Amino acid sequence: MQRLPEPELMNDPLQAKAYADADFSCEDEGFICRLQEYLVGLGKIPAPGNLIIDLGCGPGNISERLQGLWPLTDVLGIDGSQAMLDLAKQRQRKSAVDLQGLSYRCANLCSLVSGATDLSSSAVVVVSNSLLHHLHKPHLLWDAIKHLAAPGAVVFHRDLRRPLSSEQVIELKNKYMHNSPSILIRDYLASLHAAFTLKEVQFQLHHAGLDQLKVIEVEDRYLEVFGTM
Ligand SMILES: C[S@@+](CC[C@H](N)C(=O)[O-])C[C@H]1O[C@@H](n2cnc3c(N)ncnc32)[C@H](O)[C@@H]1O
Repeated sequence: MQRLPEPELMNDPLQAKAYADADFSCEDEGFICRLQEYLVGLGKIPAPGNLIIDLGCGPGNISERLQGLWPLTDVLGIDGSQAMLDLAKQRQRKSAVDLQGLSYRCANLCSLVSGATDLSSSAVVVVSNSLLHHLHKPHLLWDAIKHLAAPGAVVFHRDLRRPLSSEQVIELKNKYMHNSPSILIRDYLASLHAAFTLKEVQFQLHHAGLDQLKVIEVEDRYLEVFGTM
């Protein structure tokens, strides 16, 4: 199936709210467990004061969990959509968990790769969940990582992978999005069409000079990219 890009930023407040209201807790827990296992395996658990960056953080699903897991680290969620960040900050204010080390910044990935940022080479862990497929120029993610990651930093990215056929798209929609609001279903279908294949991501990494990062297919719908810088 050919790739069909979707809009990059989720700027529409209704779209952002539908996303923030959806229950992705199983998926988010899955992401955090895989990341934690990976860091433990490498012996690279973030230390107090270390910076963890969550790119394309949306309403903060993953950022909050990272901060909950390692409360003494600094977690920075970055997104280009102010609508998403408003929801993330709202959730942070209401959270029963202490999220003092968590902060958010509104920035497009392209502004991070220019080098004109205070964040250069500062993060010991850089993650993203469901960001890559939004990008019209996917190299922006890999360039951003090169700018933000400290030497030896761990990177971990999970995204949808593009199904082989429109029949598979419908199967995934019926399996994972039944009873969801129509706006969420619309976005999910757009995301599956916009997602990359394993080979395409391997090609991106090669061109970015990041051959040390590994890409694998996980379950029936994800790609994971991970490694050290
Ligand atoms: C599908 S959401 C994922 C949100 C969150 N990571 C999660 O796991 O729930 C993708 C997010 O990436 C953001 N995004 C897309 N392109 C971006 C870019 N070029 N720069 C910054 N953020 C971007 C969107 O605004 C949106 O909030």
